[in-house]
Amino acid sequence: MSWRFILMIIISISWIPILIFFVTNINSKLISQVQITISKPWTLVTRNNVRLSRLYKKYNLLLNLTAFKTNHLSNKTIIYSCTSFCGGWGDRLRGITSAYILALLTDRHFMIDMNYPCDILKVVEPNFVNWTYVKHNKSKNRTRLYINTMPSWQKAYRNNISNMIKSNDFVKVWSSYDDIIISANSDYMTPALHNIYMLNKTQQLLGQIPISQATTQIFVAFLFELLFKPSIAVRNRVDSILINSRHRHLICLHIRIGKNPTNPLDVAFTARENTTKSMIDFVDNYLLNKSSSLIFVTSDSSQAVSDILRHYPNSSMSIVGPILHIDRFDRRSPTICDGFVKVIADFYLLGECQTLLLSTSGFSSWANLRRENPNEELYHYNEKLGKIKKLIT
Ligand SMILES: *[C@@H]1O[C@H](CO)[C@@H](O)[C@H](O)[C@H]1NC(C)=O
Ligand SMILES: *[C@@H]1O[C@H](CO)[C@@H](O)[C@H](O)[C@H]1NC(C)=O
Ligand SMILES: *[C@@H]1O[C@H](CO)[C@@H](O)[C@H](O)[C@H]1NC(C)=O
Ligand SMILES: *[C@@H]1O[C@H](CO)[C@@H](O)[C@H](O)[C@H]1NC(C)=O
Ligand SMILES: *[C@@H]1O[C@H](CO)[C@@H](O)[C@H](O)[C@H]1NC(C)=O
Ligand SMILES: *[C@@H]1O[C@H](CO)[C@@H](O)[C@H](O)[C@H]1NC(C)=O
Ligand SMILES: *[C@@H]1O[C@H](CO)[C@@H](O)[C@H](O)[C@H]1NC(C)=O
Ligand SMILES: *[C@@H]1O[C@H](CO)[C@@H](O)[C@H](O)[C@H]1NC(C)=O
Ligand SMILES: *[C@@H]1O[C@H](CO)[C@@H](O)[C@H](O)[C@H]1NC(C)=O
Ligand SMILES: *[C@@H]1O[C@H](CO)[C@@H](O)[C@H](O)[C@H]1NC(C)=O
Repeated sequence: MSWRFILMIIISISWIPILIFFVTNINSKLISQVQITISKPWTLVTRNNVRLSRLYKKYNLLLNLTAFKTNHLSNKTIIYSCTSFCGGWGDRLRGITSAYILALLTDRHFMIDMNYPCDILKVVEPNFVNWTYVKHNKSKNRTRLYINTMPSWQKAYRNNISNMIKSNDFVKVWSSYDDIIISANSDYMTPALHNIYMLNKTQQLLGQIPISQATTQIFVAFLFELLFKPSIAVRNRVDSILINSRHRHLICLHIRIGKNPTNPLDVAFTARENTTKSMIDFVDNYLLNKSSSLIFVTSDSSQAVSDILRHYPNSSMSIVGPILHIDRFDRRSPTICDGFVKVIADFYLLGECQTLLLSTSGFSSWANLRRENPNEELYHYNEKLGKIKKLIT
């Protein structure tokens, strides 16, 4: 194939989602004008409010929520930084929540510096914690500590940092630095909260929850809501699905198969090649007994999405838009920001599913934790067995 031909294909393919995007956008604008006067209990905003009040009821008497909502006005900072390779959305959420807990424990102002693959504000905005990144004036000569523990860095260094967070007085060790810039995808939340030097501070945060029970699993759903609310672009995308799923049982499939023609720069997971077929068989045999079910699919493969949409022509949907791995993408693509919006819209939508079928992925396991009942109706493609199994967590 000549390069001209390849270029032509790339250009023509990349326009399709843009066109469809505009058409659906016009539709949702019309819809919102028509329904402007009646309340909309089905929208993402309403559902997030309901979710937040449910989490408040659950945690209000247990955790010290005031402490969690605090973003210290100290002129010292901890900054979560993601300006190049920092993993997918699951990795980033692990890094962000870890950095946030470290900021709380060290009484530092917390900020998020993320412009990769494009500005984080395109997809989420600060909710209760204002983490807006403000660049410090270089001439102020602030002292900076850069902590990068992404897997590409030396193991000895990464272990050193984990040990420090687990069992050293990191408040003291870091005290001479004005800004601590963290790039990480590890979970430092649990070890930091169990650190013996942080005992007083941790007890202030945890309130009634014994430190021994302070695991990441308990907080993440709540921390996510404290930190983030969806941008308008994300809300519009999610609402375009939710409006059709009112009064219906939403069965969601996350099909992550790794390197494939849609996602050529990703890692290959050969054991996952039959995920789509297994999920279809499972849904047909065990789940699809409710005529009111609606199937939502998200995948890193456009083939997988179209297989699902074709198999369920009258009862399946996906969010239209370019498929992008937010860490492994073609930098020349003109639709990167639009792809980022779709990824986060998919993430929010997976939090609204009554039934969820997952691939092995941080993305969908985080999404699952946002569901009303994270442990119910949860299934997983088991690569070793080549089968869907119920997950009992
Ligand atoms: C940071 O705040 C302290 C007191 O709150 C102040 O003494 C110090 O000058 C401030 N440093 C900078 C760089 O603004
Ligand atoms: C959040 O912080 C930024 C930077 O300090 C500020 O410009 C913005 O007004 C703040 N937002 C709110 C809602 O307080
Ligand atoms: C940075 O600080 C210097 C000296 O205090 C000042 O002249 C300059 O305008 C500041 N720059 C910005 C972008 O605030
Ligand atoms: C900036 O800090 C360095 C190291 O602490 C010091 O050597 C240098 O003199 C400082 N420069 C200014 C302009 O304060
Ligand atoms: C580990 O960190 C300590 C200080 O926190 C430092 O003195 C030591 O050199 C580090 N070791 C390695 C292997 O990086
Ligand atoms: C923790 O609190 C106790 C009692 O209030 C106090 O005696 C102790 O010094 C504190 N420890 C630290 C590390 O601040
Ligand atoms: C809750 O957190 C706030 C802010 O950090 C603190 O002032 C207060 O003492 C804490 N409450 C309890 C009961 O520990
Ligand atoms: C996928 O299914 C095909 C046909 O049933 C089979 O030959 C192949 O071994 C399967 N692949 C994996 C990784 O299980
Ligand atoms: C119908 O589906 C639900 C799960 O959605 C399952 O619990 C139930 O056993 C199914 N019933 C039949 C008859 O298959
Ligand atoms: C989908 O809907 C069309 C039109 O209502 C109908 O003719 C067709 O049989 C349906 N297909 C399936 C698989 O239910």
